Amino acid sequence: MQPDGKSMRRSKSSPQLARARNQIDPSASAPACVFGVSFENRLGLAAGLDRTGRNFEELARCGVGHIEIGTLTDSADLEFRYCGHRRRTKVGISIASRRPGLDQQVIDDYLRLSRNLSSTCDFLVANLSSPHHARNGNSRGIERLLEALKLEHDTHQDEPRCPLLVKLGLHEASMELPVAVNIARDLRLDGVVIATPSMRILERVSRELHGIAVISVGGIGTLNDAKRRLCAGASLVQVHSAYARRGPACIADILGDGGHS
Ligand SMILES: Cc1cc2nc3c(=O)[nH]c(=O)nc-3n(C[C@H](O)[C@H](O)[C@H](O)COP(=O)(O)O)c2cc1C
Repeated sequence: MQPDGKSMRRSKSSPQLARARNQIDPSASAPACVFGVSFENRLGLAAGLDRTGRNFEELARCGVGHIEIGTLTDSADLEFRYCGHRRRTKVGISIASRRPGLDQQVIDDYLRLSRNLSSTCDFLVANLSSPHHARNGNSRGIERLLEALKLEHDTHQDEPRCPLLVKLGLHEASMELPVAVNIARDLRLDGVVIATPSMRILERVSRELHGIAVISVGGIGTLNDAKRRLCAGASLVQVHSAYARRGPACIADILGDGGHS
């Protein structure tokens, strides 16, 4: 595993390097340094399983390398105390506005959450994947939101900076990649969480992102599912439904011999 630290945070790996690294060991149990954060393994629990962080310690016992807490729409809802990078299971926090659409009020909600929560996690995810909030398709709004979040992150944070990711829900129905993918690439966000069961979409988006880290979620339940996502360009993978159905046993399966349970 590569060492964690400021220099790693600033260095961007090329897609070739990312792919080569994954091809050397595409197993979810392999340790990884992604957007400057050292993960014990490449498997995590997706947002929605621990909305407030209340069950973090219990969930972490299953041996995942990270847990994405949330989605939080109010920072006062966080029920979790962060102890920094020494923590074995890394902490992502997913944020969103409760309001629909993408007007200035919604952008301000995301900015407030980002300001309040960046120092309490290892990476922050701006969730744009909710189908109920009518944010998809508003390219100008998405651009303004991500630009504002990126500016906030680049100018108002002490080192070490908290990596900023965006979560997008992508479906086969549209052959057009959402404009958010290009915006994430052009702004050089630290990563994109791609929620899709489609390998074709995952491969395409990973290519488009030119080396920006990809977390793949959607339809992962076996060791082989995870391997295929890592070979398709993902640096980390997450599970939701499989864990909800099968509990820690599915983590042990996906991690293979590298699992703890
Ligand atoms: C009951 C439920 C609640 C969810 N809540 C959230 C959430 O709060 N935030 C979020 O980003 N994704 C949420 N998701 C989406 C999951 O994180 C994940 O992207 C999706 O379920 C696909 O992964 P899977 O095939 O492993 O279930 C939720 C999914 C389910 C089924």
